[in-house]
Amino acid sequence: MRRMMLPAVTLLAVAPLASAQVTIQPKAGAPLAGLTPAQLELFWIGQEAYSTPVTLEMGLGPIMNKSNCVSCHTNPIGGWGSISVNHFGMDDKGEFMMSPGETQSLLQTLAVSPLCAEVVPEDASVFVQRVTNSSMAFGLIEAIPDAAIAANADPADANGDGVSGRVHWVHLLEDPTGPLRAGRFGWKAQVATTLSFSGDAARNEMGMTNDLEPIENAPNGNDAILSECDSVADPEDTPDLEGYRFIDRVTHFQRYLSQPPQTPKSGMSGEAVFNAIGCNACHVRDWTTSNSPLLEDAIRNKAIKPYSDFLIHNMGGLGDGVQQGDADETEMRTPTLWNLRTRDPMLHNGAASGGTFTTRVTKAIELHGPFGESASSAAAFMALGGTQKAQLIAFLGSLGKLEFDLEPDNQVDVFDFMLFQSCFAVGAASPDTNCGVADFNQDGLINTVDASAFMQAYEGAEGTGDCDKDGELDLMEILLGAPDADGDFVPDDCAGCQADFDGDGQRNGVDLGILLAGWGTAAADADGDGMTNGVDLGILLAGWGACD
Ligand code: HEC
Ligand code: HEC
Repeated sequence: MRRMMLPAVTLLAVAPLASAQVTIQPKAGAPLAGLTPAQLELFWIGQEAYSTPVTLEMGLGPIMNKSNCVSCHTNPIGGWGSISVNHFGMDDKGEFMMSPGETQSLLQTLAVSPLCAEVVPEDASVFVQRVTNSSMAFGLIEAIPDAAIAANADPADANGDGVSGRVHWVHLLEDPTGPLRAGRFGWKAQVATTLSFSGDAARNEMGMTNDLEPIENAPNGNDAILSECDSVADPEDTPDLEGYRFIDRVTHFQRYLSQPPQTPKSGMSGEAVFNAIGCNACHVRDWTTSNSPLLEDAIRNKAIKPYSDFLIHNMGGLGDGVQQGDADETEMRTPTLWNLRTRDPMLHNGAASGGTFTTRVTKAIELHGPFGESASSAAAFMALGGTQKAQLIAFLGSLGKLEFDLEPDNQVDVFDFMLFQSCFAVGAASPDTNCGVADFNQDGLINTVDASAFMQAYEGAEGTGDCDKDGELDLMEILLGAPDADGDFVPDDCAGCQADFDGDGQRNGVDLGILLAGWGTAAADADGDGMTNGVDLGILLAGWGACD
């Protein structure tokens, strides 16, 4: 009814809204769009396994760093974290060497009893911290064909651009005698598949042996101590009633993670700066996953924008000093940049941490120089003027930003609605302004198409009713001009069910109680004049009973 008061042109614009269902980019940590119900169930069961502490009976320890995956991969579940693990070894004339007697360089800091605790040997002279990383969207990254990664490699720097990435070819733990595969996970691209990493992490971080890593880690390589401390038979990870092992469960979860959002999706000036100074020589934007029919539909043949080449590069002083597989002391894998805006700390050793996003990311970029393959782009960054620097950083800040998150706090709530309202009133936006975050379909206009997408993305509770029951959210009515002087996100003149203060579809004694309690304030204001008084009482009594 209230519609009649709106100009006819608005009425026309409203018509197509209800039918326009669009796909909002999932939040970081959410499942991929397009999973089947069975796959979605595997995602949630896997997330549970990923987040539940492994017990001693299940095979925790005897030496480990934590009892579950999420204690390190916190941001969000399955993502980055601020906890580092330590590697130790010796420096042999610039070459990394394992300490004598050790079977691995990773230190396990916890033990089931003091007897089995691992200690850092006295001869260790190289200590390296590795921050918990996470590419997210593991299934999508895993599905990038090896040949596509290899196509960017330029080991001899044939094109003379100073950037000469190599593929880190590795064996799969699940197929150790099979063909070498292009590594892509881990700080040194030392792992090619999610399942391999799950098997590695289950044993090395948690002490749970499994089919892929069946031999327990002995404290400092000492089998005598191990036999005193380890009572569970290997492999400790055995199939559950449905036939899945723990490492399968956590792999399901990780493979079905979506790629984090990027908002605005394209067109920021800072991305042109990013390309102009050569960041994109390593942080490569566009990839398409394999079209293999063996892959799930949600993973197969998808365009993704991880901003990584998944190659290892000589990073000069930013190398970690560890030789791992075929990656040498200076070589590090280009990390994906999606979800960058939430990362703290950044870099393998956490050298860029704290402060604001701007200070953190500036530090991370500056540390790309002065030696190694990224030296010239780091120098070019430092030579940029203030405007271009700000544009570049604004672009980096769009990586991980939620659609319509105008007041960026990783949720789309009523504060974002109020900012959306002012962008809508202006009606146009460029990707470089904050209103660009509201331009869902990237046509430069903020109009009803964007508004209907906003309503889908909206997570707030306010305004989600439909007081006049015309199929349009109250929030949308307000956006299109319905008065809301009392700011309760219910149109003041809603003829549908005025004075139904508790919103239960009934005007009864409960509403009368609310009205009397709010007398003289704005609490039970049916006519939207900012005051609860006799007029409102009249409206309540006149409409007494069920709404409609
Ligand atoms: C003690 C902290 C810790 C725990 C517990 C832990 N991780 Fe990690 N995770 C890390 C660190 C540190 C890295 C980086 C390793 C590296 O490259 O050296 C990492 C890397 C990974 C990666 C590769 C990320 C990428 O995109 O490159 C995967 C996958 C992974 N972990 C899975 C798991 C799983 C599954 C579990 C539980 C079984 C687990 N992690 C438990 C600290 C942890
Ligand atoms: C030669 C390849 C290369 C170039 C060119 C390059 N990067 Fe990187 N970038 C890397 C590698 C490798 C790392 C990880 C280094 C480490 O932690 O040891 C990294 C890390 C980062 C990180 C931190 C990410 C994280 O998760 O910790 C940011 C941010 C970043 N790069 C931005 C940039 C920007 C902006 C430019 C252009 C000025 C740039 N990079 C140029 C290879 C490159």
